[in-house]
Amino acid sequence: MSETTVLTSPARAESSHPHRRPDPCTMVIFGASGDLTERKLIPALYYLFRQGLLPEGFGVIGCARTPYTNETFREKMRRAVVKYLNVPPDDSAFVESFHKGIYYITDDFGDPAAYEQLKQLLDKLDQDGGTGGNRLFYLATPPSFFPQIVQHLGASGLATPKFPGKSWTRIVVEKPFGRDTESARELNRILTSVFQEEQIYRIDHYLGKETVQNLLVFRFANGIFEPIWNRRYIDHVQIAVAEEIGIEGRGGYYEEAGLVRDMIQNHVLSLLSLVTMEPPSTFEATAVRDEKAKAMRAVRPFPLDRLHEYAVRGQYVEGWENGRKLPAYRSEPNVSPQSTTETFAALKLYIDNWRWADVPFYVRSGKRLPKRVSEITIQFRRAPHLLFRGTLTRAVEPNLLSVRIQPDEGISLRFNAKIPDTTMQIKPVDMQFRYSEAFATSPPTAYETLLLDCMLGDPMLFTRADFVDLAWELVTPLLNRWKEDGKKGLYFYEAGTWGPPEADHLIERDGRTWHAL
Ligand SMILES: NC(=O)c1ccc[n+]([C@@H]2O[C@H](COP(=O)([O-])OP(=O)(O)OC[C@H]3O[C@@H](n4cnc5c(N)ncnc54)[C@H](OP(=O)(O)O)[C@@H]3O)[C@@H](O)[C@H]2O)c1
Repeated sequence: MSETTVLTSPARAESSHPHRRPDPCTMVIFGASGDLTERKLIPALYYLFRQGLLPEGFGVIGCARTPYTNETFREKMRRAVVKYLNVPPDDSAFVESFHKGIYYITDDFGDPAAYEQLKQLLDKLDQDGGTGGNRLFYLATPPSFFPQIVQHLGASGLATPKFPGKSWTRIVVEKPFGRDTESARELNRILTSVFQEEQIYRIDHYLGKETVQNLLVFRFANGIFEPIWNRRYIDHVQIAVAEEIGIEGRGGYYEEAGLVRDMIQNHVLSLLSLVTMEPPSTFEATAVRDEKAKAMRAVRPFPLDRLHEYAVRGQYVEGWENGRKLPAYRSEPNVSPQSTTETFAALKLYIDNWRWADVPFYVRSGKRLPKRVSEITIQFRRAPHLLFRGTLTRAVEPNLLSVRIQPDEGISLRFNAKIPDTTMQIKPVDMQFRYSEAFATSPPTAYETLLLDCMLGDPMLFTRADFVDLAWELVTPLLNRWKEDGKKGLYFYEAGTWGPPEADHLIERDGRTWHAL
């Protein structure tokens, strides 16, 4: 084997990220020739490198079937960084330093010899580059390969830390984590037969978003909100995760998944748990994850005998966007012309506990909606006595607190103000906090945050097995029922609109409306 080296990260910017530099390590990416590696993982690693946040000794080993040499793979990764991180093509830090720590092994995940080769390269990097025996395996492959890779890592001895007590081995598992309760449990069983739970990092990139983390700070670092964060003051909560894009050529994947598996089971339920959980006693992974799981456990199962009052599913048909014709879901490549896969869902959920009894949580998510936006809106109850009845203002609007997760990350509070005039007229106004205005720096992307957390051994933002299980327990009966129903109860909406009218009926039946996004 030829001489190996690892990269030496520039010095950390001490002031901006104190105490956040991980141990030396090697990250092994299974599926390194794929889309995720190119678009997210390598650009995120390079960003961390440029910030001085990668460890002193750090290496990346990419594994996939497509034959690359170290050099051709490095070149592919350089182009990815140029494209997705907007660095110049001759960026000197990359070509002089970062690329030297990148290696590639051409393998088939089913071939035991590949793991032997990997082991040898890892040992060599430890020896020559001081990566300390610490290993981070990243499963960036189609989920059908997760069990196979995990079992091979176990059989080859790579799953156990090289120097027990002194070095660590962790594994990051991409989504989707199973496709129903049973398959998720089976995957967990395989994972935990090889790795300890504390070695397993189930990634939900939504949780790495700055605004999502800020939700915890907002709730628990500000004394003024917690006293009103309950059924006495909150009328209802809306969670919207809207995408403008369609399925982007991933018909095969989406036909198997659908909106609930792709968005609700993981991202939306994680957001719901962060909004509703009790304050943890410390800001520490176990405490936070315990509270998240407790909130999830309290979500009321869907009443299957009255499902239409609680869940609406939709699928987009042909539509228009800025004069451009958008195809129907059923006309997308690799999608059945009779497909009943949902590309939209609107749900009503309740959390049966002391804090949230009878407060509805309305969720709306879909593909090919008019814009890309993720937002949580808390609508407070109206003032108890309408003092201003009989004035020129007919109705006083309720207060709204909106947490914008993307784009234009920020928080706004809507309250009523008097219109300056000699008459008494009231109008809602917004008090705005925008990340981009309040802080000079742009927030790191989710993958930057999560990769660093994983190297640092902080699992707080990763999903624990019990949460995954509870989330699947909630949505699996719904998905089974929809499957049994086939096309009955599947409503269509034009691409570029906010979903089928039945989604409006779901919330209007309760005397409420969706907030404009
Ligand atoms: N792409 C995203 O933005 C995104 C976002 C969130 C989550 N994810 C998740 O991330 C994972 C990867 O997604 P992706 O979009 O990167 O998938 P992808 O583009 O299809 O890449 C799959 C990778 O797996 C490799 N592979 C497949 N079969 C193999 C085999 N038998 N032996 C060796 N290598 C094999 C492929 O290598 P060859 O092509 O060289 O064979 C390729 O590198 C999935 O679980 C996905 O759900 C992706």
